[in-house]
Amino acid sequence: MTPYSIGFSSQLNEYIIPETEIEGTLPSWLSGTLIRTAPARFEVGDNSYNHWFDGLCMLHKFSFQGDTVSYANKFLDSGTYRANMQKGRIVYGEFGTDPCRDLFQKATTFVMGFPVTDNAGVNVGEIGGELVSVTETPIPVKIDPETLEAEGQFKYEDKLGGQITPPHPHYSEDGTLFSFVTELGPTSYYHVYRQEKNSAERKVIASIKVKEPSYMHSLGMTENYVIVTAFPLVTQALKFRFTLKAFIEKYTWEPDRETIIYLIDKHTGEVKTYATEAFFAFHHVNAFEEDGKVIFDLLAYKNAQVIYDLYLEKLRSGDLEIVAGHLWRFELELSKGSVTRKVISESWMELPQINYGRVNGKPYQFMYSAGSTTPSAFLDVIHKADVTTGQVWTWIEEGCHPAEPIFIEKPGATAEDEGVLLSIVLDTRRQCSFLLVLDAQTLEEKARARVPHPINFGFHGTFLPN
Ligand code: CO
Repeated sequence: MTPYSIGFSSQLNEYIIPETEIEGTLPSWLSGTLIRTAPARFEVGDNSYNHWFDGLCMLHKFSFQGDTVSYANKFLDSGTYRANMQKGRIVYGEFGTDPCRDLFQKATTFVMGFPVTDNAGVNVGEIGGELVSVTETPIPVKIDPETLEAEGQFKYEDKLGGQITPPHPHYSEDGTLFSFVTELGPTSYYHVYRQEKNSAERKVIASIKVKEPSYMHSLGMTENYVIVTAFPLVTQALKFRFTLKAFIEKYTWEPDRETIIYLIDKHTGEVKTYATEAFFAFHHVNAFEEDGKVIFDLLAYKNAQVIYDLYLEKLRSGDLEIVAGHLWRFELELSKGSVTRKVISESWMELPQINYGRVNGKPYQFMYSAGSTTPSAFLDVIHKADVTTGQVWTWIEEGCHPAEPIFIEKPGATAEDEGVLLSIVLDTRRQCSFLLVLDAQTLEEKARARVPHPINFGFHGTFLPN
């Protein structure tokens, strides 16, 4: 067991802390609520989840008001959570866990072998005018930002099929959401869609037929295009019908194949296809159009090994090969159909963020991420990268493991990086966590808000300004 394995152990307590212990000085302009997900329960009865992505979702929130920061956390009261608690075992399949099934369960919790879990523990954001928690099934769960109470599943008002969707939709400036859903069936598709702000209807832009669909966790977007990067980590619909394996174990890494990049015109639905080397990524960083090219950045891995390093047994043992990627840039030449790739930085980075409101889909300069000092060290730094030069700055503190840093722009800011980064950090020396507030320009610490307990390592979240 490593000192940080506490971040991968079940933490079952729910707290309401009106005032956390503050060190330093909070920016007076910072006002609002950070809401984040983290898997926090890994055992139910005699059953255990296998993978970091599987645990039952806990929502965490830090609210900034004046010179105080409050904290609260609550399990996401999803259908999956309730079913597990009622039956005292793991009822629904998750990313890396296939539950014991009984005869009836097969019909209710799997559709053609797909888990239909609503344990929406990956990200928090807005869909159809509702604040929701989401995972990789198209079943968002509505949440109340004040109480963190679940308010039932978000129901799409359309007939779009599909079982798997990235938990990282994009938003254009007018609030329209862009994403895609993978439909596995006799014929499989990636359905790329748009969803107007405050609408529950997904409108298909393009349906791309595919023989062996890829596992994809995010997508890219520019002003005029959606970018779908189909890595050679692929499956077949029949594996879902006939194989009793966990979701991700139905996918195989096929390094002899290429990565297929689909460039979808948001207005006409026209699809251009590009092919490049085999690689894997969880997260696109940003994308933009420039000089007849579509340029996109992501945190890339040579293969899909990272998925297997994120099984709980591996993480708790600390015996890891790789848990962070490199910042790669791809350039698609629109007129020639050619692809080029370069490495922007060889620092180890994961869970990337940008000043989304200002630079999403546009040329940009700065990326922020968690990261690792070595490929096998579990996230132990915060990085800031200048994507135009490859320069990287680092925040590090002994025994500390930071989560994804979220950028909050200072009101009236003129520079892209004028604001703060918020990251929940596990301090293994004190066995408890704090919310770190960094100056995004210098990575100097402004303040930290301590809670008296450890917070599980989590994935993503959102900041709701007051
Ligand atoms: Co993600």
